[in-house]
Amino acid sequence: MTILEHHSLLPYNTFGLEAKARYFVEVASIEELREVLNNERLKGMPRFILGGGSNILLTKDFDGLVIKNSLNGIETIKEDDDHVWLKCGSGEAWHSLVLHTIELGLSGIENLSLIPGQMGAAPMQNIGAYGVELEAVFESLEAVDMNTGEVRVFTKDECLFGYRESVFKTTLKGQYCIVSVTMRLNKLPKFNISYGDIKRTLDDMRIWEPTVKAVSDAVIKIRQSKLPDPKVLGNSGSFFKNPEIPKAQFDALQAYYPLIPNFPLPNEMVKVPAGWLIEQCGWKGKRVGNTGSHSQQALVLVNYGGATGAEIYQLALDIQASVKEKFGITIVPEVNVV
Ligand code: EPU
Repeated sequence: MTILEHHSLLPYNTFGLEAKARYFVEVASIEELREVLNNERLKGMPRFILGGGSNILLTKDFDGLVIKNSLNGIETIKEDDDHVWLKCGSGEAWHSLVLHTIELGLSGIENLSLIPGQMGAAPMQNIGAYGVELEAVFESLEAVDMNTGEVRVFTKDECLFGYRESVFKTTLKGQYCIVSVTMRLNKLPKFNISYGDIKRTLDDMRIWEPTVKAVSDAVIKIRQSKLPDPKVLGNSGSFFKNPEIPKAQFDALQAYYPLIPNFPLPNEMVKVPAGWLIEQCGWKGKRVGNTGSHSQQALVLVNYGGATGAEIYQLALDIQASVKEKFGITIVPEVNVV
């Protein structure tokens, strides 16, 4: 285990931004993580855990410790007639893991194909796409208490999952490092293809009886058609969360904008796509210096090359202000701004 100083984070963030970490260390086991947490020189300084770097906006150098998660390993820990319980190291690359489960003939996370990032970030923000969220297959996780070094098991209830939310983003923020996640996957496929784009794409592919692999292929096709590949164009997926507004506020908006897309929620709330709000404000495909809102998906902010994190953040603030002004809705970033 080597502690690096003034280490460039450029290869570790999908926005492709240059920023340096004062200290940088990669951990591949719980023991190594504990060693770092107990290191006298590194104690007490600001720190964050870096996973796949696909949900982070680095606006400046980080004057603290970056712990790169490389805790790998996949293990079947239990099996019955219908399910397999897979325990996965939090440093496993998410999409490779999805493909691995498909090869094993398991279903449950095929709708979450091609999401960038690592296993550990999946429960952190309850990743979701095409009608499925991680919580649907989540069983439990193990996390190391960053103050004591002790391992604690979190059940599904204790994670307090919500839309792109968990206890690790709210009350326990920064206190735990997730080291492994156990998912309960199905031996007999349970398809969730109600999401319009999936049905349409399977039809286009002339697939009438889907397999897990076919659903995964369809999701990959949709994502590739809408979302820019970070290897080609720096980005962090959806920059903002889709806002949830009271039904009364929505009804008033709908009177002005009859075409406003909407997803009614329980408790008299309505979810509105932030991508639509941003597009209506004229940002879609608009370039500002070396950054901009993507031409296929307004919710995705991109780095055309040479942008700084501060520039992208300024664009995000400008977009946020114009959505607030036009619709009276505050959109909040889903990306972590450092
Ligand atoms: N829309 C527009 N203009 C745009 C983009 C979207 O009008 O530029 C409208 C369209 O009406 C469209 C609707 O918004 O029907 C929804 O768009 P889309 O299906 O692309 O999904 P999204 O709500 O923008 C969410 C997730 C994505 C996930 C997709 C598919 C959030 C913040 N984002 O996007 O997740 O892949 O649904 O399920 O919830 C991510 O988190 O990084 C991410 C990409």
